[in-house]
Amino acid sequence: VRPGPILGIETSCDETAAAVYDGARGLLAHTLYSQVRLHAQYGGVVPELASRDHVRRINGLIRLALQQAGVEPAQLGGVAYTAGPGLIGALMVGAAVASGLASALDVPLIPVHHMEAHLLAPMLETPAPAFPFLALLVSGGHTQLVAVHGHGVYALLGESLDDAVGEAFDKTAKLLGLPYPGGPHLAKLAEHGRDGRFRFPRPMTDRPGFEFSFSGLKTAVLSALPVQPSDQDKADLAHAFQEAVTDTLVLKVGRALESTGLRRVIVAGGVGANQRLREKLAAYAERHGVQVYFPRLAFCTDNAAMVAYTGWVRRADGVAPGGSLFATPRWPL
Ligand code: KG4
Ligand code: ZN
Repeated sequence: VRPGPILGIETSCDETAAAVYDGARGLLAHTLYSQVRLHAQYGGVVPELASRDHVRRINGLIRLALQQAGVEPAQLGGVAYTAGPGLIGALMVGAAVASGLASALDVPLIPVHHMEAHLLAPMLETPAPAFPFLALLVSGGHTQLVAVHGHGVYALLGESLDDAVGEAFDKTAKLLGLPYPGGPHLAKLAEHGRDGRFRFPRPMTDRPGFEFSFSGLKTAVLSALPVQPSDQDKADLAHAFQEAVTDTLVLKVGRALESTGLRRVIVAGGVGANQRLREKLAAYAERHGVQVYFPRLAFCTDNAAMVAYTGWVRRADGVAPGGSLFATPRWPL
């Protein structure tokens, strides 16, 4: 393992990002460009456009991150990049750039699992959670409960059998006529919703286990949606949807904490930015005397800080650059 800070590169979906992390000094810089406006007009991420935009942005973001960190390329101890899961064309951009840089600098190339990076994002905060902890991973592609015993020691307790929770937010938002990405828009609209007007099921809470299913909720919203909904109708539906989702997540987190005996829980992934989820988890933690950790909002959604950090943790797994490019759309944690 070489000394020196790690450059992290994230291009798995629609954010292009670079960051520099150093074991002794912590996070030195992080930069990000969100493609959200590019994809908004299509109502979702267009993979080909995403790849091309990563190509346009990534070099500038890397240069900026190094500059902000005060680190010369030659001082780097390795280059980490998100190798999957994600959109393959988008991943290939990060893989190619990382591999080229690692070759030029003759430093190890460190492939990072995107979900492991999300899972470790709370480690960038002070205080960082101590191991072991329970992780609730809630993103656009994943909904998982993971027992984390240490770096690289993960046990999957349960996951969604159909839609990921972020996907359910986005699809439901679309039904309500909200722009992409729907999650944050739906959450905002839900603030104006009234309690008790609609009530949706808390899926799979009536049977044991840690599995989730969110696709039925979207259908429930669709069936309850009036033909010409008023703004208030939409807000009431958004509210009822968000309540059902957050209640379900908190109930399963509680169940997982009880059955594993873990006393700490961390939240990771884009839906971790949801304020209602944060409130309910904080209230649960207070009631049960457990600790809950949230990364800052910018480190809940996709970012390179978590990739640089994970790269530093995984620096011993770095490979000599120059081999075949490793990027994979599907990669179990
Ligand atoms: O982790 P992330 O940035 O990307 C991956 O999927 O890896 O997560 C994005 C997801 C989207 O589905 C987005 O709508 C959702 O997180 N999201 C939210 C909020 N902010 C982002 N969902 C609910 N409430 C939010 N405040
Ligand atoms: Zn993500």
